Amino acid sequence: MLISGNHFILAVCILCLGVWCCGQADNTEAAAAPMEKVEQAALYSAIQGFVGNWWNGSDLYPDPCGWTPIQGVSCDIIGGLWYITTLSIGPVHDNSLACASNVEFRPQLFQLKHLKSLSFFSCFISPSRHPFTIPSDNWEKLAGNLMSLEFRSNPGLIGQIPTSFGYLKKLQSLVLLENGLTGEIPTGIGNLTNLNRLVLAVNRFTGKIPDSFGMLKELLILDLSRNSLSGHLPLGLGGLTSLLKLDLSNNRLKGKLFAHIACLKNLTLLDLRHNRFSGGLSQHVLDMLSLEELMLSCNPLGGDIISLDWQNLQKLVVLDLTNTSLIGEIPESLSGLKRLRHLGLGNNNLTGNLPPKLASLPDLNALYLNGNNLTGVLPFSQVFYGKMGKRFGAWNNPNLCYPVGSMTTRNAPYGVKPCQRGVTLLEPNTTAKLGDDGNLNNNNSHFIAASGFPSYNTRRLGQLILVDTLITVLLLHLFL
Ligand SMILES: *[C@@H]1O[C@H](CO)[C@@H](O)[C@H](O)[C@H]1NC(C)=O
Ligand SMILES: *[C@@H]1O[C@H](CO)[C@@H](O)[C@H](O)[C@H]1NC(C)=O
Ligand SMILES: *[C@@H]1O[C@H](CO)[C@@H](O)[C@H](O)[C@H]1NC(C)=O
Ligand SMILES: *[C@@H]1O[C@H](CO)[C@@H](O)[C@H](O)[C@H]1NC(C)=O
Ligand SMILES: *[C@@H]1O[C@H](CO)[C@@H](O)[C@H](O)[C@H]1NC(C)=O
Ligand SMILES: *[C@@H]1O[C@H](CO)[C@@H](O)[C@H](O)[C@H]1NC(C)=O
Ligand SMILES: *[C@@H]1O[C@H](CO)[C@@H](O)[C@H](O)[C@H]1NC(C)=O
Ligand SMILES: *[C@@H]1O[C@H](CO)[C@@H](O)[C@H](O)[C@H]1NC(C)=O
Repeated sequence: MLISGNHFILAVCILCLGVWCCGQADNTEAAAAPMEKVEQAALYSAIQGFVGNWWNGSDLYPDPCGWTPIQGVSCDIIGGLWYITTLSIGPVHDNSLACASNVEFRPQLFQLKHLKSLSFFSCFISPSRHPFTIPSDNWEKLAGNLMSLEFRSNPGLIGQIPTSFGYLKKLQSLVLLENGLTGEIPTGIGNLTNLNRLVLAVNRFTGKIPDSFGMLKELLILDLSRNSLSGHLPLGLGGLTSLLKLDLSNNRLKGKLFAHIACLKNLTLLDLRHNRFSGGLSQHVLDMLSLEELMLSCNPLGGDIISLDWQNLQKLVVLDLTNTSLIGEIPESLSGLKRLRHLGLGNNNLTGNLPPKLASLPDLNALYLNGNNLTGVLPFSQVFYGKMGKRFGAWNNPNLCYPVGSMTTRNAPYGVKPCQRGVTLLEPNTTAKLGDDGNLNNNNSHFIAASGFPSYNTRRLGQLILVDTLITVLLLHLFL
């Protein structure tokens, strides 16, 4: 292993030497390479600004579009001359150029007039020692060609989005992901009507989502998640009919989910988790026929889900309504969503019995019902609990139990008490079963077992003991 490694390094060195020799020999040819001196000088200077003055491009890469390509740079021939079309700064590949600590945005960057794609990955990294603000000037010089602009994972990139980004009319993709950017999103972003991807996630943007976003008719992906955006959704969002993914999760957005949202017929992902949306889940949401993932958890939505027509969402795979203040019963129609894999209804105020048909969903592999006020007997089979394992949650439903005869304690649903044989006494029709056991003055082994569950608080134990007393009273009536 070691030896072959050494051989490899040797081979690489020889190769390097070869290239270097050739470089010396072909100097004249390199000089004849069809690339404007201005363009070449601008490239070197721009890169040097990011990686540091030690980097001497003309020495190291005399023919950047030819036989000495620079990692992260690509070129195209336009009108018989080479031009730089892609510039990616930062450690994307092993041998990419890393950024200096004191990065400098040189004006030469904006002389690369045929640049189509510009990206900065993990380049501005120290918010405390070297905070950096995106320059506001010169962007219009790139307006003719720039189609993709990306700043990703730059914690040291602070300040606002320059309003001059609004000039970049050719942009199809604007990604400002995981930086330290602040302030309001400039309205001018809404002028970038060729955008099909707009990602401003994981920054510290505040204020409202600009109304002008309604002009972004070509958008396929809009991700503003994990900021501090507030206010209502602009109505114009309903006009973005080509949208496939809309992620506004983890903000402070509020208000109703308005009717126009139903126009997003191609939307496959709607993620509004961790906001302040209220006013109930309207049927409009369920009119987005392409939805595969509907995630609304941790919003004070309120309202019920039983009055909605779930049949529309035949493509739904993930439905997350955890902690959305829902009331009422769980509709059986959910069992018509045959592709459903994840159903999260935990931490609501849902009541009533569980529709047994939920167990028949062929792909279901996670079902969370914990933290509600569901009642009755869990209607699922031992096989079902075996299949779901830890992805079945029903704890914290004080009036729910599982039928004790039907399963081993190992498969018993976590945090759910076994149904008291005695409890069935309360239902006149099942009193016959009383005789099966006969041993009613038995000790309270179920209670003891049940109290082992962490979700069992003393209040509930109290309720159970109350039930127990009731049974005793009933029994007295029966036998006396
Ligand atoms: C790069 O090196 C060349 C030759 O070694 C030298 O003439 C030039 O000034 C250097 N450029 C920079 C920017 O250091
Ligand atoms: C955006 O477009 C509006 C009207 O089309 C215009 O008034 C405004 O100056 C534009 N903003 C930018 C930043 O381009
Ligand atoms: C929705 O998707 C279909 C199929 O991919 C496509 O033909 C249609 O143009 C899309 N609608 C919009 C408004 O983009
Ligand atoms: C439930 O959602 C509310 C917002 O509606 C949030 O404040 C709260 O932290 C959430 N609770 C949990 C346990 O996630
Ligand atoms: C459930 O309803 C009760 C009473 O209406 C309320 O106090 C409680 O906060 C609600 N719980 C949730 C999770 O919405
Ligand atoms: C749960 O529902 C029962 C009726 O089924 C009701 O008596 C009880 O107050 C409810 N508990 C809570 C915490 O809402
Ligand atoms: C007893 O059960 C039968 C069918 O099993 C049902 O028709 C009847 O209504 C039940 N009686 C009561 C009082 O619930
Ligand atoms: C409770 O009942 C179980 C069997 O049902 C028995 O093994 C156990 O000894 C009893 N415990 C007490 C305290 O009576």
